[in-house]
This record gives sequence, structure tokens and C-alpha cells, in this order.
Amino acid sequence: MYSALSVFLFSILVSQSHVSACSKHCDFPAIFNFGDGNSDTGAFAAWFFGQSPFFGQSYFNGSAGRVSDGRLLIDFIATELGLPFLHPYMDSLGANFSHGANFANVFSTIQLPTANVIPSTPPPRGLNPVNLDIQVVSQFSQFTNRSQTQGRAFEKFMPEPEDFVQALYTIDIGQIDLTQEFLNNRTDDEVRAIVPGLINRLTANIKILYSLGGRSFWIHNLGPNGCLPILLTLAPVPDDQLDSAGCAIRYNVLTQYFNTELKRGVDGLGTDFPLAAFTYVDIYSARYSLYQEPERYGFTHPLEACCGYGGRYNYGENSLCGSTITVNGTQFTVVPCENPSDYINYEGQTYTQAADEITFNKISTGQLSHPPNSLKTACPQFSFARVDDI
Ligand SMILES: *[C@@H]1O[C@H](CO)[C@@H](O)[C@H](O)[C@H]1NC(C)=O
Ligand SMILES: *[C@@H]1O[C@H](CO)[C@@H](O)[C@H](O)[C@H]1NC(C)=O
Ligand SMILES: *[C@@H]1O[C@H](CO)[C@@H](O)[C@H](O)[C@H]1NC(C)=O
Ligand SMILES: *[C@@H]1O[C@H](CO)[C@@H](O)[C@H](O)[C@H]1NC(C)=O
Ligand SMILES: *[C@@H]1O[C@H](CO)[C@@H](O)[C@H](O)[C@H]1NC(C)=O
Repeated sequence: MYSALSVFLFSILVSQSHVSACSKHCDFPAIFNFGDGNSDTGAFAAWFFGQSPFFGQSYFNGSAGRVSDGRLLIDFIATELGLPFLHPYMDSLGANFSHGANFANVFSTIQLPTANVIPSTPPPRGLNPVNLDIQVVSQFSQFTNRSQTQGRAFEKFMPEPEDFVQALYTIDIGQIDLTQEFLNNRTDDEVRAIVPGLINRLTANIKILYSLGGRSFWIHNLGPNGCLPILLTLAPVPDDQLDSAGCAIRYNVLTQYFNTELKRGVDGLGTDFPLAAFTYVDIYSARYSLYQEPERYGFTHPLEACCGYGGRYNYGENSLCGSTITVNGTQFTVVPCENPSDYINYEGQTYTQAADEITFNKISTGQLSHPPNSLKTACPQFSFARVDDI
């Protein structure tokens, strides 16, 4: 009797842990995205440096406001869901928000930057004043309201009211918070000490999105920052502190600490809000596998920036992508590499289209998600199932 009950309970557990296999597709009508340069589709270009040095040559045939040679993870996500590329909320020219909006900004952080704000402090040390709080509390909350009030005059460019509940909310932020700490030579203890505050602030913003109607959340953890040309160049570690892939062990260990805490935070949200779906996506594992086996994916220059100049990692603080530099008395502009698909990294901090496409293929299936939701099943399944039962 006892063992029969155990078998019964066990089979419930097993069927729940395989929930994604028989999950329903979600039909997301829109995506609302929050983040940094890993998912900015033109905000930074719209309001700071319009003629950005970011070329988009592999896909867009010219600058497309992305810090990449082509499409970003968020672009592959939109396409997989049958939706157009997201327009930046900051874009006042020709923006069409009928299928969502993008609040991500290059160099945005979770924390509110109080110093080194762009444009007074130039990249790569300058921080974007539009941190996550501003993206969510100031911009998205205005957008939900005004797209349905004043915005109705532009109805054809706005989401439907019900789209805010049914949309997918995607979040990819924190990389700049950590890399700034590393560039400022913080100790391990100092970095660990700020992580809980970052996670609290991130989850507090997700709760605000929930209070504004969001029910489906797709939350990226951070990639292996210890493999980024910016850190390997500007905050180098001795060679014996590089791993077999050539990445700085210390930065990756601290980044994984952030990720562990983020996972804990996302688990907590799942407990607090059982009617919503929170999917934690292990971007770290997906991206790190490219550095572990670069030849398998055709990356002949895995640790160098595609668009940069100088040093071991084709990167320099004073020779950033698009800048004009003088070497041996000759002046020239720092342009992208000829074959971006030979590189994982684009300009020192963000990734090439080739890297993002492979990363997307690894994360979209749910094999690196917790719970193991695929992109198309990352909505609340429980409430949908009940609707079907009626
Ligand atoms: C880029 O140019 C190619 C060749 O002319 C064209 O096939 C492609 O559609 C263009 N891409 C975009 C996004 O406009
Ligand atoms: C929406 O905006 C209007 C006008 O500014 C304001 O009166 C109202 O309180 C806002 N509603 C919400 C839910 O924020
Ligand atoms: C906005 O974009 C959607 C999707 O691409 C398109 O169907 C719609 O026609 C566009 N709206 C306007 C007014 O152009
Ligand atoms: C960090 O340390 C490096 C190497 O010692 C030094 O060159 C750099 O100026 C330091 N950066 C800061 C922000 O203190
Ligand atoms: C500058 O001069 C050095 C030393 O002669 C040389 O190694 C290097 O390739 C030169 N760089 C350029 C861009 O001409």
C-alpha cells in the first residue's frame, strides 16, 4: 500500500518534470524586452551616437543600431515566435510597437549609475543613465498606459490591451554591473557583497512587470564574462589564471555566483507567483561551450574582438570599433573584421551574429532552461490547461 502510493507520487513527479514534452504552444502576440547592449536594437543609437560604428554588415547591409555584425539573440527569439524585430522604445522615427517594444540600452545596468554616465564618460567605462529601474518603472509603465490612451491615435502602431498579459517578457541584464566592478579592480569579496542587492533589484523589477500584467518571463543569466576581450585586455589576469579555453577563471567564477543567486531569485518568484511562468535560461553554458570547442563551430579567433585593434585580443580602450586612431604616424578608422563568423565576440563586450545564432539554437529548445520550457512553451501552462478542461 505504502509503496503503491510512493509509485503513484513518483509518477506525478516524473510527469511534472517532463511537462515541456506535452506543453502547449503559447502564441505570444508581443515581446517586451529589457536589458543592455546584448539586446539593444537601436535605443542607444537613437539617443546618443546616431552614426554608430556598429555595422550590421552580415545581415542588415548597414548600421541597424545593434552592437553586432547582424542579428542578436532577441532578433532570433522574435523570428522563432513569428514576430517582427522589436523597435526600440526610444526610437521616435517610424517605430511600430504593434508586436512589442524594446527597452534595452547599450551599457545599461541593474544599479542606477551615479557616476561615469555617458556621454561625459566615453565608452567603454561610461554607463547608460537608463538603468533597469528606468526601463521598467519610468518607460514601460508609461508605455502600458499611454499606448492605450494618447497612443490610440496611432492605434495601428500599438499593442492591443490584452497583449500585455499574453506577451513574453524577456530580460538580459547585469553584465555591465559585473564588468564595471572587475574594471575597477574590486576584490572577490567586494563583488560578492553587491550581488544580492543586484538580484533583489532585478527581481523587484520583475514583480513590477507582473503587477502591470506580465505573466510569461524569459530570464537570461549572464554569459562567461571572463572570456570577454574588454576584461582580458583592461583587467588582465596572469596566464596561469586562465582556463583551458583562455578565459579568466576568476571573472567566470564570480559571474557564476551571480547566476546561482539569480536562479535562486527566479525560483522564489515562481513560488510567490504560481500563476505566472518564470523561465531561467542558462546563457552561460550555451556561450561557454563555444569557447570550449571553437573549432567545432568554425571560430578561428574565439577570444579576439572582430571589430577592434591592438594587443592579444584585438581590443584597446583607445582603439574601439569605429574610432579613428593613429599608428606609426598613419591615421585610420577601426573597422570590423572581414569574416565576423570567425569570431565569437564583436567589439569587446557583445557577440557576433554567428555566436548568437548558435547560442539561440542551444537555448530555444528548453534544454538549458529551468524549468525546461522551450521558447514557445514559456507561458503559464496550468491556467491554459484549466481553460481547455472547461
Ligand atoms: C541585404 O542585401 C542582400 C543583397 O542585396 C539582400 O538579399 C538582403 O535582403 C538585404 N538584407 C536586408 C535586411 O535588407
Ligand atoms: C495613466 O495616465 C493617466 C494620465 O497621465 C493618469 O491619470 C493615470 O493615473 C495613469 N494610469 C495608470 C494606471 O498609471
Ligand atoms: C506594424 O508591424 C506589423 C508587423 O510587421 C505590421 O503587420 C503592421 O502592418 C505594421 N503597422 C503599420 C501601421 O504599418
Ligand atoms: C586596476 O589595476 C590596474 C593594474 O594594476 C591599473 O592599471 C588600473 O589603473 C586599475 N584601475 C582602477 C580603476 O583602479
Ligand atoms: C607599426 O610599427 C611596428 C614596428 O615597426 C609594426 O610592428 C607594426 O605592424 C606597425 N603597425 C602598423 C599598423 O603599421
